[in-house]
Amino acid sequence: MPFFSDFYARNFKLLLSGRTPAQHCACSSFQKIVGDHYVFADEESLDKYAHDETENLYYRPEIVVKPRTAEEISEIMKICHRDKIQVTPRGGGTGLSGGALPQLGGVLLSTERMNTILQIDERNLQVITEPGVITEVLQDAVKEKKLFYPPDPSSRGSCFIGGNIAENSGGPKAVKYGVVKDYVLNLEIVLPTGEIMWTGANVLKNSTGYNLTQLVVGSEGTLGIVTKIVLRLIPLPAFDVLMLVPFRNLEQAGEAVSAIFRAGFVPSAMELVEINALKIVSKFVESSAISIPDDIAAHLIIETDGNNMDVLMQDMEAIGNLLMNYDIGEIYFADDAQQKAELWKLRRRAAEAVKLIGYTIEEDTVVPRAELPALIRGVKELAAKFNFDVVCYGHAGDGNLHVRIRKEGIPNSYGNEEMHTILSELFVLVKSLGGTISGEHGIGLIQKGFMNLVFEEHHIRLMREIKKAFDPHNILNAGKIFDSK
Ligand code: LAC
Ligand code: ZN
Repeated sequence: MPFFSDFYARNFKLLLSGRTPAQHCACSSFQKIVGDHYVFADEESLDKYAHDETENLYYRPEIVVKPRTAEEISEIMKICHRDKIQVTPRGGGTGLSGGALPQLGGVLLSTERMNTILQIDERNLQVITEPGVITEVLQDAVKEKKLFYPPDPSSRGSCFIGGNIAENSGGPKAVKYGVVKDYVLNLEIVLPTGEIMWTGANVLKNSTGYNLTQLVVGSEGTLGIVTKIVLRLIPLPAFDVLMLVPFRNLEQAGEAVSAIFRAGFVPSAMELVEINALKIVSKFVESSAISIPDDIAAHLIIETDGNNMDVLMQDMEAIGNLLMNYDIGEIYFADDAQQKAELWKLRRRAAEAVKLIGYTIEEDTVVPRAELPALIRGVKELAAKFNFDVVCYGHAGDGNLHVRIRKEGIPNSYGNEEMHTILSELFVLVKSLGGTISGEHGIGLIQKGFMNLVFEEHHIRLMREIKKAFDPHNILNAGKIFDSK
């Protein structure tokens, strides 16, 4: 029990009925704070919180605590700070970089009970919410008021808005509307020391001191625990139009993406799905919505949205005409809500489907949009060199390509030497194209070994010093993003 060690030493005599002394002591202190029913140390609970969606990784916490308020979290953190107990915050558990994995043991702090939307402020186009609200629930609630919160990760039906803040999530709409950071105005956080603070103000402009709000966004639960979130909203566009364009050549699909933007269009989604991913996911969700002719290599899913249907149709027609310059098959228009939903289901469930058949980490490479064909070419060259299966899909309009590798006998990329070599070559390529290693999933546990490929040592040192200023005892999600020193 290394991370309860101080506690363990002081409370050794309290060893009771199979629980570690730390578990016993911490359990009773935490029970006093959150109530008996919300502290767990039974096998089933520890097992449930030992994994997220990251590969097949499994690390059990020692205790699971489910607080309801910032004040309760503050009390918990004061104890953990005092006794140097590790704490891993967790949202919906859908992360893909291991941010919510308690690889050091200690306390797993779940925000699942903090699931109230506190206020939809229609006067100011803002929403104030707790972190444990499911992203899609929040989107639907504001939609009822004709308002729009665009960031829509594939897991939006189960991920929490707090986790989205932690990872600075994106999703298909990011190409037109931006990612989570573009909507966060203010955050209430509990510091690792237990103090509660607001990082900013509920305003659209703010030049008052360091921008701690944006520092916390994407900090992967290492700087503080987010307990309230103020998001800006925009008016809900009235219409959207969706089409699917089959390409006979994958690289050409990548080239077409930047041509569409260069021609002056701003699609509300521009997704790429390589054909093997489509085959896998179609089988997984038992859908035959899209026919898959042998000569097709990839599809682009293109959506436009706005308030004037005629304009949207004209834009789609013009994009279709532009794409005639490429080697494409027949364009498919989704005519109604059901067809659209079916197409989006195929796209959104790709990650889950390929994971189930043995593809490891979902890489999250991102390059400047026009470099996408070079990235795709490089990925295929690496696959031939190292002899692995690969599928690509992702947010082509953002240059954000998810690369998924499968190699016989390798269930997890994390900790595997051969995969480290392969991924290092991939990331060196990404860096040489002007890109970086994570567009929307974060670094967490499994990407931290590659940070030295994209950052100088002094850059990482600065991040470590920021971490130390927030968390002097290094107890909050330690060992994520970079190794603790
Ligand atoms: C996707 C998520 C998993 O793009 O990043 O499907
Ligand atoms: Zn994605």
